[in-house]
Amino acid sequence: MKSKVEKPKLILGLIGSPRRLGNSELITKEISRHITIPHTLRLIRLPSLNILPCKACYGCIMDNPCPQNDDMGFILEELVRADAVIVASPVYFLGANAIFKKILDRGFLFFDILHRVYKKPSVLVNLYGMKGRIGAAPHTLLTFASFLGLDVKASVDLHAAMPGEVIIDPHSINAAKRLGEMLFSKKKAGTGSGCPFCGCEFVRMKRRTFICALCHGKFSIDKEGLRIKIKEGDLFGTPEHRLLHKEWLKGMKDRFLASRKEILRAAQQYKDVGKWIIP
Ligand SMILES: Cc1cc2nc3c(=O)[nH]c(=O)nc-3n(C[C@H](O)[C@H](O)[C@H](O)COP(=O)(O)O)c2cc1C
Repeated sequence: MKSKVEKPKLILGLIGSPRRLGNSELITKEISRHITIPHTLRLIRLPSLNILPCKACYGCIMDNPCPQNDDMGFILEELVRADAVIVASPVYFLGANAIFKKILDRGFLFFDILHRVYKKPSVLVNLYGMKGRIGAAPHTLLTFASFLGLDVKASVDLHAAMPGEVIIDPHSINAAKRLGEMLFSKKKAGTGSGCPFCGCEFVRMKRRTFICALCHGKFSIDKEGLRIKIKEGDLFGTPEHRLLHKEWLKGMKDRFLASRKEILRAAQQYKDVGKWIIP
């Protein structure tokens, strides 16, 4: 009997840098070298795509096609095709490259692919040039992956100031090795710091309680410095749970129709206030 030949896995590398052979691209390729199972690396240079702003029409929530004719569909299709995802972005002004926010703003479209991308393994890499200047970048990539329902195996921050420098830094090469080995394994990097539920390092403080800026889980810190879980956030979870949000948004249409006349009447007085200017 012929043995079944396994198809190579498809790894999708989402590169958040416009730079050719820059740090984000190189580290993604290095990570793929350490994935021991047969695979093909497919790369998308996100900043060169055409991603238009969300028109806030809620058409997609009502299961109508998105009116924006751009490359969103291409990204979503590639995410569905992929077996795993590597996301790498340079830090720009204390955040990830803006392309991730542009895509996230169209994130209602993620609902359509949620069941097909849920729990796909992923690793996230933030490339930063100055120590102490990484800012909110890891939060942006984590938000991106979390809304897609990806299984984030690790989120790492690597220092690389000069173009391509990451590839001559033994620390980064080591990190790439760990990430490559981890991607299809059962291993996952621990959440040693930040939110004890999702690992996000961005938190709000309300008296003595910390609220995660990503999953919105609540926790405190005891006298020994240990993180004590108070309440899990309900933002993420299974696709079914997430799709409740879509249903809630759908219900909003009836609520809006019921009060539309009143809102329009109240808004009318503001119609001609101010002068719109364009370049
Ligand atoms: C416009 C711009 C803004 C940047 N802002 C930051 C920053 O806020 N913090 C930081 O640590 N590095 C910053 N950097 C440095 C890059 O994050 C760093 O060089 C990174 O390795 C570049 O990755 P790439 O080669 O994949 O583009 C900035 C670079 C550019 C071009």
